[in-house]
Amino acid sequence: MLDVEINKKHDEARQGEAFAPAPSLSNSPARKFYIESYGCQMNFADSEVVASILHENGFGATQHFQEADMIFLNTCSIREKAELTVRKRLTEFRKVKKYNPGLLIGVLGCMAERLKSKFIEEEKLVDIVVGPDAYRSLPGLIEEAESGQKGVNVLLSRDETYGDISPIRLNSNGVTAFVSIMRGCNNMCSFCVVPFTRGRERSRDPQSILDECISLFDEGYREVTLLGQNVDSYSWQNPDESEMVSFAKLLEKVAQISPLLRVRFSTSHPKDITDEVLFTMAKYENICKYIHLPVQSGSTRILQMMNRTYTREWYLSKVNRIRELLPGCGISTDVITGFCTETDEDHKETLSLMEYCEYDLAYMFYYSERPGTLAARRFTDDVPEEIKKSRLQEVVALHRIHSLKSMQKEVGKTAKVLIEGNSKKSDEHWAGRSDNNKVVVFPKNENLQKGDYADVVIESCTAGTLIGRLKNN
Ligand code: SAH
Ligand code: SF4
Ligand code: F3S
Repeated sequence: MLDVEINKKHDEARQGEAFAPAPSLSNSPARKFYIESYGCQMNFADSEVVASILHENGFGATQHFQEADMIFLNTCSIREKAELTVRKRLTEFRKVKKYNPGLLIGVLGCMAERLKSKFIEEEKLVDIVVGPDAYRSLPGLIEEAESGQKGVNVLLSRDETYGDISPIRLNSNGVTAFVSIMRGCNNMCSFCVVPFTRGRERSRDPQSILDECISLFDEGYREVTLLGQNVDSYSWQNPDESEMVSFAKLLEKVAQISPLLRVRFSTSHPKDITDEVLFTMAKYENICKYIHLPVQSGSTRILQMMNRTYTREWYLSKVNRIRELLPGCGISTDVITGFCTETDEDHKETLSLMEYCEYDLAYMFYYSERPGTLAARRFTDDVPEEIKKSRLQEVVALHRIHSLKSMQKEVGKTAKVLIEGNSKKSDEHWAGRSDNNKVVVFPKNENLQKGDYADVVIESCTAGTLIGRLKNN
């Protein structure tokens, strides 16, 4: 039970239907904004860019929407459910606006991009609609909205990376941070709305990435997660043609900032992950041995229809290579059940692939057709909902066995844990994560604090947490 809850939390934070409100940042400036984020880590990182743009323009963040002059929802379109959650939230804000007619409501992110000005026609209470590449225009749009016009900007860009903007960390634990290294996606997975909501892929100037990571380190952060929809296709050509920076090179540069700075990254695409990346991971102790490698399906026929451009065998050869070059490396995945035309045989292939991989963590979904995607245009969404859901349950049940096994394997070992803060259940315990991304809880000792590393002997586990004690204690 516990593991489902924990996975769901991860799930929600990454892909999700979850949100996190902004913390209070300022001492009551003139106008206050409240921002709620839904969807993937990239969307959460974008909210930090938005907060920075608004802050620069004299607005201050608040954690309480009741005292806000403007409410922003940074939205996700990945599945229908994600959009429904936002719609529901908007009906709640409709009530708030009734009592505070001056309140501005803005929709940001992927749903804004997908629905564009239609949003304002459908949801009359929305004043501002801004797509992911247009956040710099937000202050101007607020002004327009304040003068009674509706403010819309959903232009996608080929070069916007917000590279020069220092994000304001929202809901931060002060130890771990996300850093965007690229935007958009050039893959056309047939089920996926992201290429339409986020536009073409573009990489961010490596120097601005390094500068951001260095300043995070100087501020006391000890872990950065480099973010992109497909990090392995990161590529930066210096304007003077002196250097081509690949993802492996970027990873190395970030790892060299300090051995005390942990480096993670997400997401790797099985078609693009290279040996060079794996060798770089092996070379640096501070690059965490954990790879998120979404498979989506175990059936080559379905993978082809999904336009993933790899086969089951190709995927398995990548998993074998990771295990060969990085023994003990954590591997996680995403799985979709009930994609168009999926048969019982295809589904069994997904289960058998999972049996082989024994994932440490998996984010599992049933297929949700998204308007405008290749699959929506080309194929019929023909697997009945009950079958999609029952296949999902089988996948979840199987994964539960694997994730428990993966936790149990750690018992008796010593894990190097980066302390992120108090354990949720007790102030007398620290909580942090191991190199291979498992949550570890252990009793405090006075010599250690948040942001320190600790060697922890793992004594037992639940489905979602390793429980241990400090080595030599
Ligand atoms: N860029 C990442 C994934 C981003 S979306 C990658 O290539 O792996 C995160 C996950 O949501 C996907 O991996 C997929 O498993 C799931 N997903 C995307 N579109 C979906 C849809 N239409 N229905 C159900 N799940 C979907
Ligand atoms: Fe979507 Fe595929 Fe791009 Fe991932 S790689 S964001 S699944 S199109
Ligand atoms: Fe959702 Fe957009 Fe991310 S659709 S998963 S918020 S890129």
